[in-house]
Amino acid sequence: MRLPGLQGEPTTLALRLVVLFTLGAALLMSGVGYWLYHALKMQLDERNLAEVRGKTEVIRHLLADIPSAAELGPQLQRFRDISVGHPYITTGVAHEGDWLLRPRGPVRQAIEQAASLPADAVTPLRVEGADWWVSRIPYRWPQTGSPGVDVYLAVDISESRDILHEHGLTAALAVLLGSLASGLWAFFVARRGLAPLHAIAAEAERMTSERLGTAIDIQHAPGEIRGLVGSLNRMLERLAESFRSLEQFSADIAHELRTPLNNLMMQTQVTLSRPRLVEEYQETLLRNLQELERLQRMVSDMLFLARADRGMLTLQQEEVDLRAEADNLADFFELAATERGQCIVVRGEGRQLGDRLMLRRALTNLLSNAVRYAPADTTIEVDIEAKTEGLQLRVANPGEPIAAETLTRLFARFARHESASSRDTDGIGLGLAMVDSIMRLHGGLLAAHAVDGRIVFSLRFPPAAQIGSSKG
Ligand SMILES: Nc1ncnc2c1ncn2[C@@H]1O[C@H](COP(=O)(O)OP(=O)(O)OP(=O)(O)O)[C@@H](O)[C@H]1O
Ligand SMILES: [Mg+2]
Repeated sequence: MRLPGLQGEPTTLALRLVVLFTLGAALLMSGVGYWLYHALKMQLDERNLAEVRGKTEVIRHLLADIPSAAELGPQLQRFRDISVGHPYITTGVAHEGDWLLRPRGPVRQAIEQAASLPADAVTPLRVEGADWWVSRIPYRWPQTGSPGVDVYLAVDISESRDILHEHGLTAALAVLLGSLASGLWAFFVARRGLAPLHAIAAEAERMTSERLGTAIDIQHAPGEIRGLVGSLNRMLERLAESFRSLEQFSADIAHELRTPLNNLMMQTQVTLSRPRLVEEYQETLLRNLQELERLQRMVSDMLFLARADRGMLTLQQEEVDLRAEADNLADFFELAATERGQCIVVRGEGRQLGDRLMLRRALTNLLSNAVRYAPADTTIEVDIEAKTEGLQLRVANPGEPIAAETLTRLFARFARHESASSRDTDGIGLGLAMVDSIMRLHGGLLAAHAVDGRIVFSLRFPPAAQIGSSKG
């Protein structure tokens, strides 16, 4: 079912309101109509009953005036007179199964056919489309011992029934028209009432990715949906933010890919510009291979981050001995560190539930950063500490002081700090973003701070995943 002028599916709010309102109005009006009908019926019945009672009283008085059945004959006219001026009343007197006075009209047959009517009670009879109330008044003369008489009083109540019927029809029509009118009114009210919703829908309709930041007008929204509009606006803000970072990310990817691709092209073009020695070709290929490796690392890191973002990475929950992992990596980086006169010290113990490969990847990134960005001839310290609030692994190295907010900004993708130490390295700027992502996947977090000329990156794990306590 669809109502004209209402847009949308059958279950629109407007339609629901209209249907409920109309149903309610119809029910209410039907109730009132029925009540009025019932009241009128009772009143009419009361009136007819009063008529019957009054006439019965008159009949009893007449009978009491007559000494015996034998003297009934001359008095019959008085029974007939009861109905004078009342065309809807007729009387009859029966004595020993014979009519002494016959009731008028077809009601007589009906009385004859009804075997025996209850005494002094009103019996409804339907005769040729008319409704009658018939009352039998038996009378015995105590002194005479002769059989008594039955006086019949019949009242045609068709008029009352007609009035009631007409009233019923009028009431039904009134209910119908009233329901229709209230339906129309409800439709009008619903349309007026829901107009702000349509306005909001229209505003939302005009939203495009460029206009995501523009909030939906909350001032003119009705109180009931202000909360909804507020939530929508906050959702739009979050969407706009995600959109911005997505745009930034795409721009960064394009920008980061351009440099190695340019390098590859230029080196290849220069090499091909004239015939060269085999060694020169080999050297160019080697340099190209390095660029390609860098590109490959970038793509695989980006893939990892994208998968982590979309929740596509499943964590292995295994026991990871962080001390053993740190020791292994310290060995692995020893050569690079020694070349720069650095040394790596690992202290403390700690075992943790988590994904071994991912945690190794996080630790590799932190250590490679430390070796890469710490000045020559310094010590890189790795501290593992089991705390009640969860296991902590810190990688610290001397370095130029960096402001706290700048440090946290380094966790963003492609973020690099323009310091003397990082200027000449071939970093992409995805390492810390990956560590941050891995820590979040483990329910922990990556923190960074600079104290006393040292840069410290800490992996903080949640307490629940910690296994045992420090072995000391
Ligand atoms: N241990 C550290 N000491 C000093 N600066 C650091 C350290 N670790 C990271 N940084 C700074 O943070 C920046 C971001 O580091 P991140 O590991 O994210 O990227 P990257 O090392 O430049 O590149 P990638 O790790 O992707 O090869 C670095 O460029 C560097 O400026
Ligand atoms: Mg790095």
